[in-house]
Amino acid sequence: MKAPGMSVIDWEALRGKAIEAAQLAYCPYSTLQVGAAALVLDEFGAARVITGCNVENASYGLGVCAEVTLTGQLRLTGGGRLVALACRSGAGELLMPCGRCRQVIYEFGGPDLLVDTPDGPHDMTWVLPAAFGPDHLP
Ligand code: THU
Repeated sequence: MKAPGMSVIDWEALRGKAIEAAQLAYCPYSTLQVGAAALVLDEFGAARVITGCNVENASYGLGVCAEVTLTGQLRLTGGGRLVALACRSGAGELLMPCGRCRQVIYEFGGPDLLVDTPDGPHDMTWVLPAAFGPDHLP
């Protein structure tokens, strides 16, 4: 679904934070700097912005994506729910979360999380249709 109410979210600020985070990436192998920035609402209704960047490894398969380090930051800085998320390269290009990362961010944002896409902000029902999630566990 195309995101309703996206005018209250400062997408430009979020994109800027994602670019700043990307520029801190550790990516000597791919050389692709990736940054993710998310607007979070905590359990008290307070908003904050968190970021993540990709961190690669000489053992290539052990590298982690920007969205993964972002979820670590989510927990380390007080938890809460992801409300809106943007991914950018260090050069400012829009990047979509990879398939694995769509599942990772769904865990903390659910179907209402808004993601910046080439088509504008969309919610997770568009980004990860028919998603598997916590509700499917016994
Ligand atoms: N990458 C991310 O950080 N997030 C994604 O959603 C896609 C890919 C990183 C992983 C790797 O460090 C680099 O981009 C090239 O694949």
